[in-house]
Amino acid sequence: MTQFATATFPHFHEMLSGQDLRIPLRDGTTRRPINLDHAASTPPLRAVRVTVERFLDWYSSVHRGTGFTSQLATQAYEEARTVVGRFVGARDRQHTVIFGPNTTWALNKLARRMAFAPGDVVISTTLEHHANDLPWRQVANLVYARCDNQGRLDVAHVAELLQRYAGRARLLAVTGGSNVTGHLPDVHYLAALAHDVGAQIVVDAAQLVPHRAIDIGDLRDPAHLDYIAFSGHKLYAPYGSGALVGRRDTFAAGAPDVVGGGTVRLVTPDHVEWAEAPARDEAGTPNVVGAVALAAAVLELERIGFAAIAAHEAALTARLLERLQCISGVQVYGDKSPASAQQRLGVIPFAVADLDPRLVGAILSCDYGIAVRCGAFCAHPYVQRLIGQEAVCGSEQPSGLIRASLGLATTTADIEDFAAALTAIVGGSHRGDYLFDGAAGAYYPHDWRPDVTTAFSLGVAAASSYA
Ligand SMILES: Cc1ncc(COP(=O)(O)O)c(C=O)c1O
Repeated sequence: MTQFATATFPHFHEMLSGQDLRIPLRDGTTRRPINLDHAASTPPLRAVRVTVERFLDWYSSVHRGTGFTSQLATQAYEEARTVVGRFVGARDRQHTVIFGPNTTWALNKLARRMAFAPGDVVISTTLEHHANDLPWRQVANLVYARCDNQGRLDVAHVAELLQRYAGRARLLAVTGGSNVTGHLPDVHYLAALAHDVGAQIVVDAAQLVPHRAIDIGDLRDPAHLDYIAFSGHKLYAPYGSGALVGRRDTFAAGAPDVVGGGTVRLVTPDHVEWAEAPARDEAGTPNVVGAVALAAAVLELERIGFAAIAAHEAALTARLLERLQCISGVQVYGDKSPASAQQRLGVIPFAVADLDPRLVGAILSCDYGIAVRCGAFCAHPYVQRLIGQEAVCGSEQPSGLIRASLGLATTTADIEDFAAALTAIVGGSHRGDYLFDGAAGAYYPHDWRPDVTTAFSLGVAAASSYA
C-alpha cells in the first residue's frame, strides 16, 4: 500500500452542500448531521449548484426553439452529453448517450429496446439491486449466478452459465459495485467471458461511477462493456437526471419504447420515421437542468481525481471496518478485512446483536444525528443470502441489516462519532425508550419526534389528504 493510497482528504466535505446545517436531537441540542447514507443518494457538490444557478437564468426548452436562450440551452444540453460520454470513454461512432431520470429507467429502457426473442436468456447475479433484476424478468428467461458467503460474485458460476446457455445467452446483467456489500466485480473480465459466447454485457454502474473511473471500451476489445447505466443523484447531482450509455447500433434499430415528440424524423397520418440515436430514445422535453447538473458533477469529480476519491474512501472504509469489529455484538457482513478496503466500495452492512436494525437506525438518527439505512436495500435476495434467511412469499420480510455508506462528505471524525454512538447503543442505554410505530413502520422515541418542518417546509400545513 502506498502512502497516497491510504490518505484522507479532510477538505473534501467542504465541497458539498449542507455542511453548515444543524439538526435537532432528542435531548434538545443540535448538531451537524452525519451522512452515512451516500449509497442511497448524495448531496450536491457546491460546484454543481453554482453551475445550475448560472444556467437557470438562461434556461429554455431545447432543440427546435429559435430564440437565443433555446439555442443556448440546446448547446448546454449537447455539451453535457459530450461530458458524460467522455466520462465513461464513449466513442462517437460506437456509442450513444441517452439522458433520462435514473438507473432504474435506464435498465428498463434497455430491457425493452434489446428486442428479446422467446428462448433468449439473460444471465444476472444474486448481488443485484432490483433495478438490475426485475426488468429482465419481464423480457427474457433469467438465470442467476450465485455469490459466496461473503457476498462475492462466483465468477466460475458466471462462466459456467454462459457456457451452458451459449447461443441463447443474449446479455449478462451485472452490478459494477454492490449497494449492499460494496463488492466490486471485475466487469471487464466478465465482459470478455460474455463476448466469448456471443452475449453482451450491461453494467449497473449506479454505485460504481461516484467512486471509480470506468471505461466502456472500444467495441473491438473483447473486454469492452456494451451498456452502462447510472444516476446523477448518486453522483453528487440530485437534479433528476441519469444516463444510459451504450452501443449505438442497439438504439439505431427498432421503435423506441416511449414514443412522442423528439423521437421522430417525420410523421405522416400513416407512417413514422424514427429519429437517429439518441433522440429516438429521449421522448418528450428532456430534463436539461438535470443533464447540465450531471455534467457539472462529472467535471468536478474529474478535477478532484478518482485516485484521490478512492484513496480517501478506502482509508475511511478501513477505519470503519476496524472500529465496527471492536464493538462486541456488532456483526459485519461481506468482506470484513480492512486490508482489502481499496478493492471494494465504502458500503458496509452490519447487524447489532439482538436489536432490530430499524431501532438502531432510529437511535442513531434521533440521539446522534447520524443517517444510515436499514432493511434489505432493494436487493432482497442478496440480503437474504447474506443473513442466511430465505423469505417466503406472504410472510413478514426479514428485518435485514443496517448499512453505513461513505462518500466525499465523510470525515474521520464522522467515523469516530459513529463508532462511539454504536458502542453506546450496544451498551444498552437506550433500550425501552423507543416504541415501534406500526403505521410508519419505524421506531421513535416515546417522548419525541423530529419536527422536520422547523428546518424546511413549503409553508403548507401538513395534511393527510388533498381536500
Ligand atoms: C446498485 C444500484 N443499482 C440501481 C439503483 C437504482 O438507482 P435509481 O433509484 O437512481 O434508479 C441503485 C439505487 O440505490 C443501486 O444502488
